[in-house]
Amino acid sequence: MDSKTRVRAEVWLRYAQDLRLGPYYRDRAASHSAAIESPSAPEQVPMPKDNGSLGVRSVNSDSKPPETPRVTTPELGRPALPIVQLSSGPSLFEEKVENDSLDHIREDIGPNCTRCKLYKARKNIVFGVGNPKAQLVFVGEGPGRDEDEQGEPFVGRAGKLLTQMIEAMGLKRSDVYICNVVKCRPPENRLPEKDEIATCSPYLFRQLGVIAPKVICALGSCSAQTMLQTTQGISRFRGEWFDYHGSKLIATYHPAYLLRNPPAKSEVWKDLQKIMAHLGLELPKKR
Ligand code: URA
Repeated sequence: MDSKTRVRAEVWLRYAQDLRLGPYYRDRAASHSAAIESPSAPEQVPMPKDNGSLGVRSVNSDSKPPETPRVTTPELGRPALPIVQLSSGPSLFEEKVENDSLDHIREDIGPNCTRCKLYKARKNIVFGVGNPKAQLVFVGEGPGRDEDEQGEPFVGRAGKLLTQMIEAMGLKRSDVYICNVVKCRPPENRLPEKDEIATCSPYLFRQLGVIAPKVICALGSCSAQTMLQTTQGISRFRGEWFDYHGSKLIATYHPAYLLRNPPAKSEVWKDLQKIMAHLGLELPKKR
């Protein structure tokens, strides 16, 4: 086994251990401790499921995704997106957990997680907040300083803008669910690194599996690339619909990007309106 594959396998085995799945190999206990001490970072994000079921194709660009998706329909004037997936083979095992729940996932992460290096500087694990039965889930990249202080996602400046976006859709924060790819703050608000994403994203995938929302809105590249298993830049596929295990996924720009680049708000508003149309939401009446 080459070193890249080995590190990926180690991450998955550690995750299986967390899920209390049975041992896969006789010498599992010995190799598990080696895995935890492995200093090398995986080069790739592990696949949550096999590529076929991930269904990361663009289904079409209308505001209402079709009920029977998977037909790749080119957006007007643009070719169908060849989403380049990071991983081509099936995952080592299905990570579906019987009778999973948000509480169970939180318990599995635990109060003192040290699975990746982000634990060193974090104050609080930021698990996620909102309606556990939400039809709409927003996924950011990782907590910033305010989120780390308060233990809640999107409460800083970018969070206030996200709240305005949610309210512009006629919803309240408590109607939706909000979480991140990584649950601990990357130092200096840097982007989460590949090994951190590989370690933490299975918990995001489980959160999405439990909530099973109608729509997932990926906020920014890190979130979109993690869920779609692609390295393509977000501007290539922003505003397009994808299948994600029975949910529809759409990626839009991160609110922090909008703070730096306000003209992009009009693009994001178009994406939010597509989501509203899919959820049957009407524009709130102006007061
Ligand atoms: N940016 C994110 O991606 N997530 C947060 O929770 C806050 C800022």
